[in-house]
Amino acid sequence: MKALIQNLLEQAVVSLQEQQILPADVQPRITIDRTKDKSHGDFANNLALMLAKPAKQNPRALAELIVKNLPTSELIIKTEIAGPGFINFFINPNYLEKQIDSAFADSRLNVELTATPQTVVIDYSSPNLAKEMHVGHLRSTIIGDSVTRTLAFQGHNVIRQNHVGDWGTQFGMLLAYMEELRAKGEEINKNLANLEVFYRAAKGRFDESEAFANRSRDLVVALQSGDEECLTLWKEFKDISIAHCQEAYERLGVSLNISDVRGESAYNKDLSVVVSDLDSKGLLQESQGAKCVFLDNFKNKEGEPLPVIIKKKDGGFLYATSDLAAIRYRQSTLNADRVLYFVDARQGLHFQQVFEVARLADFVKAGTTLEHMPFGTVMGEDGKPFKTRAGSTPKLADLLTEAEERAYELVKEKNKDMAEEELRHIASIVGIASVKYADLSKNRTSDYTFSFDSMLSFEGNTAPYLLYAYTRVASIFNKAGIEIDSIIADVTFTEEKEKDLASKLMQFNEIVSQVGKQGLPHFLCAYLFELAGLFSSFYEACPILVAENETQKQSRLKLAGLTAKTLQQGLALLGINTLERM
Ligand code: ARG
Repeated sequence: MKALIQNLLEQAVVSLQEQQILPADVQPRITIDRTKDKSHGDFANNLALMLAKPAKQNPRALAELIVKNLPTSELIIKTEIAGPGFINFFINPNYLEKQIDSAFADSRLNVELTATPQTVVIDYSSPNLAKEMHVGHLRSTIIGDSVTRTLAFQGHNVIRQNHVGDWGTQFGMLLAYMEELRAKGEEINKNLANLEVFYRAAKGRFDESEAFANRSRDLVVALQSGDEECLTLWKEFKDISIAHCQEAYERLGVSLNISDVRGESAYNKDLSVVVSDLDSKGLLQESQGAKCVFLDNFKNKEGEPLPVIIKKKDGGFLYATSDLAAIRYRQSTLNADRVLYFVDARQGLHFQQVFEVARLADFVKAGTTLEHMPFGTVMGEDGKPFKTRAGSTPKLADLLTEAEERAYELVKEKNKDMAEEELRHIASIVGIASVKYADLSKNRTSDYTFSFDSMLSFEGNTAPYLLYAYTRVASIFNKAGIEIDSIIADVTFTEEKEKDLASKLMQFNEIVSQVGKQGLPHFLCAYLFELAGLFSSFYEACPILVAENETQKQSRLKLAGLTAKTLQQGLALLGINTLERM
């Protein structure tokens, strides 16, 4: 609806330009706002205030001219000029009714397929494989997955890239430890069951034994120069580690597969090409034996240029080098139009630098965008970065188990007679959904506090609240023995609350496109929360199954049905499954 009103205003501007009321060269950015107070209409716009000066008109007079030049449209029933020159639009309820009918009949709920499909490469999750996944990986994994689902739903060609850390010095230490275990006749597989313990043991050996440390260093060199035996050992480690990740993805309902893994090691062969490309563009400079790129815009506190190190003095490459190689690949092989990076905000400088070097080196086409989608830190309730009581970083698997256990207690409390199996099933969905939703519903750019109590609450903007709201709508249909899709009658409003709910339902399209553009799923969460709230007020004010007559009953069932479908689709875009009862 916003886009339609915007279009009407654009047409009004053109016709005012033809009449020479507005100068021909103004191209205003028209923004439409939803009003809070519906007595002022449904939408408002400040175009007249913006254009008053170039038009040399008083804003209210200009607003009148704009209104006079608006093409007629079945969308708008009335306009009003308010305050200093705002134009308020009142949506025609008949138009809304028709829209509800059409969204209800459409499997996409009238969410548009994009007119300009893009190839979007999404870099998310991307843990370092040397260690077990922990709570820090939640944000990238969950938020990245939701944005991926949203873009796919809009009709974009999404390519998931799990840029795992599977290369570099840490692997020398791990391989040396594997060698030792093997020499002792121990089974590697068993030892790798707990990566955290394995990593700590290897680190212990590294710190205590000079010989072990030297062996580790030799093994890194051997690995990076393609030594067969090293590679076999490394591959064994990598496979087990990735299987751990895959287990977590499956538990979380995250749409990443083994085939989406393209880690740092995949770019090993391209690193020297990156160096020669940068060199031939004249971008490389030697500094203290290292090959670096110096960018004008990046200086330290003393005003000295900051180097982006591409190749170290000892010949080793860096994190930035593999990211440059990845950009080349994403452009030339994957043909990306957009590349999104769901990575910790603390890597902001790294990405700014890498993106700029990639542009200077022509690794990306001018029209391709590289977008860091940063997120803040997961904090504990004590206001410090989230830790277990023992002081270590909590393992993801343990957190998910705890969420499921807590959800189990809550669900059991509400359903004393429910069979154990169903309780477990519901608890698992609610528990996982709560962890995911808690993360998704906060603006990703800020830090967020991990709290089981608040994420599992049935009140407020939480997964339990929304899942429960969905079951309430679903139960209306169950009670009446009606299939949602069997409703064919048209919607007709008799109450204001019906119109309010309908208007919110019609906002879904706009929210989906916003999430796709900005990579901020919390807007979708806020929308679903508001929708559930409006449904509650509607349900209180407008009896459904005992409506005044059959027409009204069918109409209200349809509104309820579309609410259920929208909640379900919205949650699906967040990667959350709904339940029929809980
Ligand atoms: N493995 C890195 C880490 O755990 C994140 C990688 C993000 N993606 C990238 N292309 N740099 O910090």
